[in-house]
Amino acid sequence: MDRVNIINKENFSNQEYYVDLVKNINDDEYAKTGDAKKFIIVTFGCQMNEHDSENIKGMLTNMGYEETEDMEKANLIIYNTCAIRENAETRFFGNIGALKNIKKKNPDIVIATCGCMMQEPHIVKELTSKYKHVNIIFGTHNIYKFPELLYTYISLVDKETVVDVWDIDGNIVEGLPSVRRYDFKAFVNIMYGCNNFCTYCIVPFTRGRERSRSPQDILQEVKLLSQNSVKEITLLGQNVNSYGNNFTDKYTFPMLLEDINKIDNIERIRFMTSHPKDISDELINSFATLDKLCESLHLPVQSGSSNVLKLMNRRYTAEDYMKKIEKIKKVAPDIALTTDIIVGFPGETEEDFKQTLKLVKEVEYDSAFMFMYSTRKGTVAEKMSGHISEEVKKDRFNRLLETANEISAKKNKEYKDKIEQVLVEGFSKKNESVLSGRNRKNKLINFVGDESKIGQIVNVKITDVKSFSLNGVEV
Ligand code: 5AD
Ligand code: SF4
Repeated sequence: MDRVNIINKENFSNQEYYVDLVKNINDDEYAKTGDAKKFIIVTFGCQMNEHDSENIKGMLTNMGYEETEDMEKANLIIYNTCAIRENAETRFFGNIGALKNIKKKNPDIVIATCGCMMQEPHIVKELTSKYKHVNIIFGTHNIYKFPELLYTYISLVDKETVVDVWDIDGNIVEGLPSVRRYDFKAFVNIMYGCNNFCTYCIVPFTRGRERSRSPQDILQEVKLLSQNSVKEITLLGQNVNSYGNNFTDKYTFPMLLEDINKIDNIERIRFMTSHPKDISDELINSFATLDKLCESLHLPVQSGSSNVLKLMNRRYTAEDYMKKIEKIKKVAPDIALTTDIIVGFPGETEEDFKQTLKLVKEVEYDSAFMFMYSTRKGTVAEKMSGHISEEVKKDRFNRLLETANEISAKKNKEYKDKIEQVLVEGFSKKNESVLSGRNRKNKLINFVGDESKIGQIVNVKITDVKSFSLNGVEV
């Protein structure tokens, strides 16, 4: 393992020079006004984006900025974007359009956009031609360069838009600062990019090819987190089962899990996402052997029809998928399974769709994330024949939703009177005296308790079962 060297690696310390320059400007300003500069960051999309935003927050904090929730108070507004479906794009342009007035009222405000959408050339073209109030545009490969880009913009006399988007994969950058949402749980990136090219998916274009962080760097980060009272780790990667494929020595994802399992004070390990074609017996066995690995697995099936799966270039059949599910259930009978499903992929017939319904009933997912197929520019599916009407997509979506919800409700009923270990996250949004947290299977559980329990793992007896959550009392 010691011989795993990552060639394309650098350290965030290269950016410290710019961090200091911006911080000095902000400190001077603070000395004059007594007010710290404020930022707001709006994040769309997956956990990968959420984690990138945590890193951007870390950089901003080091540059002397404070976070605000109020757009009107912000000196810097950042949109971290998602490109996975068209509606994310529509929402983004709506939001950016609305910022025109804020910029008019306060021309000193800095507006930045980053994330997956910025990796699409037509989006950057649209922004630079029609949304000239956007000041900094950067992509997914050079997030760590944000201090340099911000300093460049601040010091420009003619305030031109600073655009820095790379179409080649960025280096793996270690040592990025981070401000996490929770003190007691953390995301840890283990790899970046995806090589799978599912025909509907934009991710290989926006996040580049697969590259893994070294085990040494990951373990060091987890150790540091464990010393800072983090109890739960979620390992992130587009396809964690390919972890280490670029290493010269064999060091696999299950081996990484085993090493993390040994770290003191870490109590829960989760990961996302797995590709069904790559999920190995070794990984499946980890659920039986590693006590900290939570009994929960997200295994996107996308469709229950082998014909559609072929068109999607998923490289497994519905039968292959079911065989893996059977293996998993044998090793870990109590596991909570979740999935992603796309309805209305080009060429999907009513018969194909019925096979999806059948598979969903057979697997009995705890929950499913369901999407209507959305055409993405530059993907293979964009050019396929047999695109499905919105009406049919909506109809299939609603039927699938009903089936999946019935199963989730049935699965929830099994929790009645059971005692669950809950990692308490905070007060429920709806009721200030109710705490909410998650059990090992990632189910949301509410109970009455006080603030001192936040960040603790407590036993809760389930008394009341709702469709999407569970209520209980501490025991
Ligand atoms: N249309 C609809 N859903 C999509 N997903 C990815 N690309 C598309 C698309 N073009 C879904 C997949 C994936 C999840 C993150 O988003 O189900 O697993
Ligand atoms: Fe997209 Fe497929 Fe890669 Fe997942 S595995 S990110 S769906 S291309």
